[in-house]
Amino acid sequence: MSAMVKGGIVVVISGHGSNLQALIDASVRGEITAPIRAVISNKADAFGLERARLANIPALSLNVKDYADRAQFDQALADCIAEFEPSLVVLAGYMRILSAEFVQRFSGKMLNIHPSLLPKYPGLNTHQRAIEQGDSHAGTSVHFVTEELDGGPVLMQLMVAIEDGETEARLKAKVQKLEHALYPTVVQWCLEGRFTLQGNHAYLDGQRLEAPLIPLYDSHLA
Ligand code: GRF
Repeated sequence: MSAMVKGGIVVVISGHGSNLQALIDASVRGEITAPIRAVISNKADAFGLERARLANIPALSLNVKDYADRAQFDQALADCIAEFEPSLVVLAGYMRILSAEFVQRFSGKMLNIHPSLLPKYPGLNTHQRAIEQGDSHAGTSVHFVTEELDGGPVLMQLMVAIEDGETEARLKAKVQKLEHALYPTVVQWCLEGRFTLQGNHAYLDGQRLEAPLIPLYDSHLA
């Protein structure tokens, strides 16, 4: 591989890539100041790869079937990411559980976005679960990735009200809008070294973060 300037972002996806698009758009607007060096998917047909190509970002895929087990696949994925020497690895709809070795390799420099107000509803079907529980609010969380699934320290969240008669599809659309507003900010703050991870705790500007930041979000401004 040709000589590469250090730093930048690698985005890891599995699918549609609307969060990736939000990151690309923020980068074009100059709101994310490090380049997106590559987008890597475990699915060759992920639409997010097309988004990357349209933005002239290297788009790569690794097929799980080419590897004997999770450990080998994760090692190959980690090696592929590391070739780009990113300062930040951004999971954006990556739908596989990560091995402990993978997580440790990028500890403190890997983010994930999750469609619930963590610690509520780790895992799948978050919107349906929030509606069924009668919650007043749903939202999205950005967290450092640790070995616990969706369990790393949460940095920022955005919330939206669950209305009477809310459907899963409508809530998903509302939360995705929040995600696109939230992720670029957190990514940039990590790049600036404002958010850091020490042990299992997150810090903002050197102060231990006792709870996630929850900025007020006005959907009319989005
Ligand atoms: C997002 O809702 C994110 O929270 C979750 O997966 C979804 C990915 O959507 N981790 P997209 O591929 O970015 O459109």
